[in-house]
Order: sequence, then C-alpha cells, then structure tokens
Amino acid sequence: MISSKLNLKSLTAQDLNAIVELDQACFGGLWTCEGYQREIDSPNSDLLGLVSPTSSTKILGMGCFWSILEEAHITIVAVHPQYQRQGLGQAILYFLLRTAGDRGMERATLEVRASNLQAISLYQKFGFQTAGRRRRYYQDNGEDALILWLPDLQYPQFPAKLDHWHNIVVDNLQKYSWDLVNSH
Ligand SMILES: CC(C)(COP(=O)(O)OP(=O)(O)OC[C@H]1O[C@@H](n2cnc3c(N)ncnc32)[C@H](O)[C@@H]1OP(=O)(O)O)[C@@H](O)C(=O)NCCC(=O)NCCS
Repeated sequence: MISSKLNLKSLTAQDLNAIVELDQACFGGLWTCEGYQREIDSPNSDLLGLVSPTSSTKILGMGCFWSILEEAHITIVAVHPQYQRQGLGQAILYFLLRTAGDRGMERATLEVRASNLQAISLYQKFGFQTAGRRRRYYQDNGEDALILWLPDLQYPQFPAKLDHWHNIVVDNLQKYSWDLVNSH
C-alpha cells in the first residue's frame, strides 16, 4: 500500500484561510480569523498543524496551547471530519504535549464538553485526569465543561513516556497509510 506523507508545521499567517476553514468544519466557527491571527502573533501561544502534500484539504488537523506560567492550557485539538479516526488526533495531542514539555511547562490542562466522549477518550489515553467540572460553562447549550489535567511534564520519566506515545502514534498512523515525516 502506498503511504501519504504527513508533516507537522507551526501555522503562520499564510495558513489563516485554511485554519478558519478547518475551524468551521470542526467547530462551526469557534474563533475568527482575527482570533487566530492573535494566536499566531502571541509568543505565549503555539499553534501547530498537520499537512499532507497529497491532500486537497490544506490543514488536516491542528492544535493550540497557551503557556500560562508553568501551565500549558490546551485550547484547540481538531481534525478535519474527513480525516478523523485515523490517528491524527493522537498525533496532534502528542506534539502539543512534547512542545509544552520542551517549553518547560509543568502540566497540561484543558476544558472539554462533558458530552464530547470522543475527545475525552482521546485525552484519557494520554493520561489526562478529571480535575473538576464547570457547571453550565458553554453558553450555546448550557452544557458543563470537564476540567482535565495531565501533571508531571517535567518529571524525569516524562521523556520516556513521550517516546512510548511517539511509537504508538507512528504505528497507528501507519495503519492508515500515513507516513509521519518530521516527527523528531
Ligand atoms: C476529538 C478529535 C480531535 C479526535 O480526532 P481523531 O483524529 O478522530 O482521533 P484519533 O483517530 O487519533 O483517535 C484517538 C482516540 O480518540 C478516541 N476517539 C476518536 N474518535 C472517536 C469516536 N468517534 N468514538 C469514540 N472514540 C473516539 C478514541 O479513544 C481513539 O482511539 P482509538 O482509535 O484507539 O479508539 C476529533 O474527533 C475532532 O476534531 N472533533 C471535533 C473537534 C473537537 O471536539 N475537539 C476536541 C475539543 S477542543
């Protein structure tokens, strides 16, 4: 089977149209173009994307986190609906955590809709634990948010954990004929 190349990149202003398209496809318009521009400009924000030269979809998946003191606050994990369930979500989360660790962050946190079982399952696979619940956090439907967190990004064991996840991510992508090119 011929595999398709998959690249990780830091998203830039040149990617803005594609970023907003992906946001629309995944969230129906969570952030505006100006919002993403602010993320790109901010030294405290990392916005990463997965791209493939063989795909007509410009950005297949993306993830973002803010570095707030020693905490990596993950704000976005999104995979284009046509490319879900092929291991890309795991790949994005892996890269976000690796980047957060490299930046010296001590833990990762995020909020997720209590009904978003796909995303919760993904986060749990990486060891995220539930730290609390914000009642009626989402204004559109009054849904609760779960607060998840992953401690210990600076523990001596964390690099070995990252290696373990890296192997899982690469193997999983290979099953769907994705060849992760620049993963180290
Ligand atoms: C959540 C999301 C990022 C997962 O991306 P993905 O590329 O499909 O995820 P992967 O293929 O890497 O799957 C990783 C794990 O996530 C969970 N998962 C993903 N989709 C799932 C589904 N439809 N049902 C159940 N579990 C699911 C599973 O645990 C899966 O592992 P498995 O394949 O070994 O069962 C994707 O569904 C998405 O973009 N959703 C819309 C945006 C969103 O809700 N983002 C999260 C909140 S910010």
